[in-house]
Amino acid sequence: MSKQFDVVVIGAGPGGYIAAIRAAQLGFNTACIDEWKTQDGKPAPGGTCTNVGCIPSKALLQSSENYEEAAKHFGDHGISMKDLAIDIGKMVARKDAVVKQNNDGILYLFKKNKVTFFHGRGSFAKATEAGYEIQVGDETVVGKHVIVATGSNPRALPGVPFDEEKILSNDGALRIPSAPKKLVLIGSGVIGLEMGSVWRRVGSEVTVLEALPTFLGAVDEQIAKEAQKAFTKQGLKIELGVKVGEIKTAGQGVSVAYTTAKGEQQVLQADRVIVSIGRVPNTNGLKPEAVGLKLDERGAIVVDAECRTNLPNVWAVGDVVRGPMLAHKAEEEGVAVAERIAGQHGHVNFNTIPWVIYTSPEIAWVGRTEQQLKADGVQYKAGTFPFLANGRARALGDTTGMVKFLADARTDEILGVHIVGPMASELISEAVVAMEFKASAEDIARICHAHPSLSEATKEAALAVDKRTLNF
Ligand code: FAD
Ligand code: NAI
Repeated sequence: MSKQFDVVVIGAGPGGYIAAIRAAQLGFNTACIDEWKTQDGKPAPGGTCTNVGCIPSKALLQSSENYEEAAKHFGDHGISMKDLAIDIGKMVARKDAVVKQNNDGILYLFKKNKVTFFHGRGSFAKATEAGYEIQVGDETVVGKHVIVATGSNPRALPGVPFDEEKILSNDGALRIPSAPKKLVLIGSGVIGLEMGSVWRRVGSEVTVLEALPTFLGAVDEQIAKEAQKAFTKQGLKIELGVKVGEIKTAGQGVSVAYTTAKGEQQVLQADRVIVSIGRVPNTNGLKPEAVGLKLDERGAIVVDAECRTNLPNVWAVGDVVRGPMLAHKAEEEGVAVAERIAGQHGHVNFNTIPWVIYTSPEIAWVGRTEQQLKADGVQYKAGTFPFLANGRARALGDTTGMVKFLADARTDEILGVHIVGPMASELISEAVVAMEFKASAEDIARICHAHPSLSEATKEAALAVDKRTLNF
């Protein structure tokens, strides 16, 4: 017997579970299928983000940051501590508990919104008059509309499969049982910097090997330089422009051969290696060929600007389609698709999707970088304000970094905002709102910001566009 639904969502990561909730809110009889399971076989909805991505990484970042604060900065406040130690087992167990709270939260939300949940792998079987037949174990689920949100997988180096013991993806990187003495990260992207920070803070000697000659090429150059300075000062060794060669596991460790930017051959001995060189769209087991669902050469599902695939009533969102691989981008697409199915006008503004790297200092940005504006031949004005001149940052004892505004030279419209410094992840929201409403730098400069707050640095950077900062 098959079960018929108006909307069937395949995948319960941020793209899928949010799409399912929104579809149910709009009155559709909705099902969501997800195969992720806990070690004892129970459903663990939430996808990469909840299980091995955003949430566990931020839990470990918080624990390790607390430890480093206590070890290095509590003394500045007159707080002395004896026998400070970190129990990595407990830190990892806390992270697991945070993940479980989120898994349970999604199951609760499905119940609350009357989304029918199927635990297992969903595979396209065929298209019929009634809709698309999807096989989940022994059950056949039929959806008039189908939203595919099957996410992404970590990319391995050619010929170097993940064993999750010594050669780790993000999955293994989040459950290392004790701080490795020596850790090598391949790729100084978002995962490399976040995971590198976690393990460095709790005692590992971390080397990051990056293929590109520039550090964080997608980030505004001035901000990336400031961040690189801060990470290097913290003890993160970052080698740019390298070519990684053979990786061999032997005995307790692993060796990584590489050629430096100057052409020298080097071999690093480490306890573990984390490979974080990007992610690839995932359609494993989906059987797109059964219904003729089109993929591109990267394996991503081909969609138009509104997430329509080549098949009528089949949509795809999140990491499995083009665009940034971010949880909030996946969510926005999920909501927009559910609303389009309902005949509404859901929209996602790709120009105002914020990026955040949750290191210390945090890095956050929205809109275009200075190098992009130059390349696009746009006439712009820039204004920066350092946290060193912000009262709240001084009180916090965290004055690294700055806020930077880029505005159109003629109209003053904000074209990009870039932050490196404390709480950049929270501060960036103001810039996102401003850009969504097409605000000018002058708009932000004229708005009253609470004192003393980090957000005053945002106002001051907006004032700096017109060369009239008040506190610098
Ligand atoms: P996913 O979250 O990957 O979910 C896909 C789901 O579909 C999975 O549960 C999978 O099991 C299921 N599935 C796949 N195929 C099938 C099938 N055939 N049948 C049934 N189920 C199936 N993004 C941020 O915005 N902020 C962050 O801080 C952040 N941190 C990250 C940290 C790490 C270490 C990593 C790896 C990623 C991070 N990301 C972050 C990226 C974020 O996790 C992804 O962009 C997001 O999870 C994409 O959501 P999604 O719904 O498209 O896919
Ligand atoms: P990434 O794309 O951020 O960085 C990969 C890095 O590896 C790049 O700098 C690239 O030049 C380098 N690289 C590629 N091949 C290499 C090689 N052979 N040798 C050495 N370096 C090489 O990818 P990452 O860090 O794996 O993360 C994947 C995605 O997950 C991110 O792009 C992001 O979308 C998402 N993510 C988001 C987070 C956040 O929002 N805070 C946190 C973590 C991940």
